Amino acid sequence: MNAFNYRERQLYAEDCKVSDIVAEVGTPLYIYSRETLERHFRVFDQALNGLEHIICFSVKSNSNLAVLRLFANLGGGADIVSGGELFRCLKAGMDPGRIVFSGVGKTTDEIRYALASGILMFNVESEMELDRIQEVASAMGKVAPISFRVNPDINPKTHPYISTGLKKNKFGVEVDRAVALYKKAARMNAIRILGIDCHIGSQLTTLSPFEETVLKLREIVEELQEEGIPIRWIDLGGGLGITYRDEAPPSPEAYADTVRRAASGMTQGFIFEPGRVMAGNAGILVTRVLYVKRGPVKTFIIVDAGMNDMVRPSLYDAYQEIRPVVETDRKIMADVVGPICESGDFLAKEREVPDAEPGDLLSVMSAGAYGFTMASNYNSRPRPAEVLVNGNEFFVIRARETFEDLVRGERIPPWLS
Ligand code: LLP
Repeated sequence: MNAFNYRERQLYAEDCKVSDIVAEVGTPLYIYSRETLERHFRVFDQALNGLEHIICFSVKSNSNLAVLRLFANLGGGADIVSGGELFRCLKAGMDPGRIVFSGVGKTTDEIRYALASGILMFNVESEMELDRIQEVASAMGKVAPISFRVNPDINPKTHPYISTGLKKNKFGVEVDRAVALYKKAARMNAIRILGIDCHIGSQLTTLSPFEETVLKLREIVEELQEEGIPIRWIDLGGGLGITYRDEAPPSPEAYADTVRRAASGMTQGFIFEPGRVMAGNAGILVTRVLYVKRGPVKTFIIVDAGMNDMVRPSLYDAYQEIRPVVETDRKIMADVVGPICESGDFLAKEREVPDAEPGDLLSVMSAGAYGFTMASNYNSRPRPAEVLVNGNEFFVIRARETFEDLVRGERIPPWLS
């Protein structure tokens, strides 16, 4: 369920006509629904009723300040993976005490920044990182709250690029070494052990990998308990999938029930890091048809959004549904492609799509997560604007980039004059 529906054959975002928004803001354009974002948060939150928890929205999925503020207002925290994401969260008014910091390559500067900001905990991904955090915290006269991100070697059964919990992946510490590392950390004077963490992958459509994960973490927590190392928070990462096409991912309720069952009797609080399930179906990318090219073997619908604006189809061969902004019953087999000079630049391939004429608007659905955040300036294309809809009003939450934005920070050395 989402807020993008047709009324009299016109696509609406909540109570705003998409074509009206485009008339003011132009294309390509990301449009998010406040109502959908809030509903997704509330459904997840309510599903976890009875389980002490913090929902740390995964900032990498959608990092717009307005989106972060919206979740902060609902009591959410954040899962961050860089100093830049921390900066965004703080700027959006998020409580640093509800921020967890994951990622295999935290720099010294990022560690310092996070310590100075008072984040909830670092999800430590290697022994060397632990040593570095100890060093930095000690030099600052601080104690760093940490958890270890454990790599449980569980197959999430998703796309290999977004699987993270397998032995061959770069993430987390080996499950067999976890207890030894906790013991080492317990002896460090600038480290405080607070939690245990795991994130096995993204776009999961079955519950069993989550269940296995909880059971695995549970074993470690119990072992640590026996070693006199109590764990306060269990961070289960993100990963719950959404419907792009015909996937039938488990509901937040079913997910929460699985966690509740696998964790029954445990006294820890739980942290969740959902990204896609919060933002994915709360956003669309609207693009305008520039040309229709009927080639000898294929028809190409050439639109003004390219792989720089939305890379998921090119990078993961991901399916994003394409809908017309003015509903039509006419369909055509075509590739929907962007203006980028690469054959890999497509939004849909060999697909039955709405028949479109130059000037028509198309909507790329399920674009609210890993859409804008993965956009780039490739081919020197300014990144799209972003709009947040609220009932019958909308607000530009990120202005379209300008050509001047493209060259900001670039300088020609005097010896080239
Ligand atoms: N926590 C950690 C540590 C993560 O690495 C991720 C995603 C999440 C939470 C959120 O996962 P989610 O709930 O959104 O599945 N660009 C890819 C997805 C990459 C996900 C990376 N990590 C895509 O467009 O499908």
